Amino acid sequence: QALLQTAQPLLAWYPLHARDLPWRHTQEPYRIWLSEIMLQQTRVEAVKNYYARFLETFPDIAALAAAEQDQVNKCWEGLGYYSRAANLRKAAQTIQEQYGGVFPRTWEEVRGLAGVGDYTAGAVCSICYGLPTPAVDGNVLRVAARVMNHFCEIDRPEQKAAVTALLRQVYLDNPEHCGTLTQAFMEIGATVCVPNGQPHCEACPLSELCLGRQYCDALRLPQRTAK
Ligand code: ADE
Repeated sequence: QALLQTAQPLLAWYPLHARDLPWRHTQEPYRIWLSEIMLQQTRVEAVKNYYARFLETFPDIAALAAAEQDQVNKCWEGLGYYSRAANLRKAAQTIQEQYGGVFPRTWEEVRGLAGVGDYTAGAVCSICYGLPTPAVDGNVLRVAARVMNHFCEIDRPEQKAAVTALLRQVYLDNPEHCGTLTQAFMEIGATVCVPNGQPHCEACPLSELCLGRQYCDALRLPQRTAK
């Protein structure tokens, strides 16, 4: 299974080629959670400024929980999808009230916070706590589909579940590097194994084991269900 062989080349590649992003200098769950919520629907370049400003205004969970929603929305102005801002404040209040102000430490508890889905819970728990919880978004599904030359429709829930299970094994095989694996799969999808046009296979640390590339099909992958 080609996906199980991706960890070593990815982990060697990541420190040399990953972008230096503000949220990659911390493992503090509040900061990682905030960055992942912002990055859900907004591009990295735009998030950078908002991330810094938000943390100046609300430096910790207590500050966010105590804020009025209007203040939070003001900080969110321009990012769009304001339900994210409402969920952030609601989750901060839950953390204050139910978890004594300490960010929860299990995947299930994190997943239970307002606005947190499988992806965000996986990202926070792997990056902050080193848990073997993959964060599978569209980028990661595309990388996996290409590496495996898997011609199934990537937006099907079974496909996401199958990729999550395989990646979990990759994480379990490399228990010291769960957070880096999350960042590295994201990074390769964002900068090398890009969705449209040409993936940069010549610069990809996975090209030798990539079955999509071997069969010259990387460009045709992934498939989506017909709308
Ligand atoms: N997109 C989603 N999460 C990300 C992260 N941690 N770094 C860069 N891009 C991302």
